[in-house]
Amino acid sequence: MTRTWKIVDGGLLALAAGALLTLSQPASAQGEVNIYSYREPQLIDPLLKAFTEKSGIKTNVVYANAGLNERLAAEGANSPADLLFTVDVGRLSEAKDAGLTQAVDSAVIKANVPAQFRDPQDNWFGISMRGRIVYASKERVKEDAITYEDLADPKWKGRLCTRSGQHVYNTSLIATMIANKGEAFTETWLKGVKANLAHKPAGGDREQARDIASGKCDIALGNTYYMALMMTNEKNPEQKQWAAAIKPLFPNASDRGTHINIAGAALTKHAPNKANAIKLMEFLSSEEAQKIYATANNEYPVNSKVEPSAIVAGWGKIKPDPLPLENIAKYRKKASELVDKVNYDAGPNS
Ligand SMILES: [Fe+2]
Repeated sequence: MTRTWKIVDGGLLALAAGALLTLSQPASAQGEVNIYSYREPQLIDPLLKAFTEKSGIKTNVVYANAGLNERLAAEGANSPADLLFTVDVGRLSEAKDAGLTQAVDSAVIKANVPAQFRDPQDNWFGISMRGRIVYASKERVKEDAITYEDLADPKWKGRLCTRSGQHVYNTSLIATMIANKGEAFTETWLKGVKANLAHKPAGGDREQARDIASGKCDIALGNTYYMALMMTNEKNPEQKQWAAAIKPLFPNASDRGTHINIAGAALTKHAPNKANAIKLMEFLSSEEAQKIYATANNEYPVNSKVEPSAIVAGWGKIKPDPLPLENIAKYRKKASELVDKVNYDAGPNS
């Protein structure tokens, strides 16, 4: 059984106390694992269900889209949480840097997850992977290869759309540019990218695809799984039209490779059900769980024995930038400072 609490912005405090009480019942401390998750229920429920069926260990999840690190810090040694699930290496490393996590020494995880997608001190590891790619108009973009560097080329003036430069997906990408090309190059590049914007950054990755479909821009940055989410969206069928208007291009495929990031997990510092939590982490890296992830989420498996879904495979092979993800964590603050320095979010005419 998976018990869940959905906590949204603003509702966090009101619901947190109730969830805490339920999670803390000592009588059920055996045979459970408690998760704080920034990932949405529909993404991880199938995995947790499969884990419980296999192991008999129950999972309890507190979902939130903000504030879980703060909550872990405030709870300290009394926290019922064993695991933190989140997206982006930046957020995983933030939790580690704040002293909220601990190392996991697991031969299973090391065998299943390549070193590039693990913290060198074993405080976090990737469960799935996504590429940050270029969405390009099928109609108006003839190029079949665009590098991140190209995004600053004046030929794209007024033709580029992105979400906020301060969003973690973008600061992580900018961090890879700093790691690969240095800070001075990255600042100049980012100014060029900003100058090419069609309008002020707004919305999420899918809204950039929408704006390509409606002709407001010709190229955009977006994550791979949003392509699949749009292509298969029965609830909002207009998103199928957005996806149909764009072709996914994998930047830098002919040199260092495309920027990839992870969704991942970390063991909390005071995990009361540590052994069970490690069992769940090991399960998540297994072929069985990785297959569920690939199919349900259209993310790339981190376990190289598992193939991506048919939709994802249909875009061709991704060549990931081999930069260790810890480097992204290292330069993310600098990346965020550069976004402010060039006033990226104010848009092209600022
Ligand atoms: Fe996302």
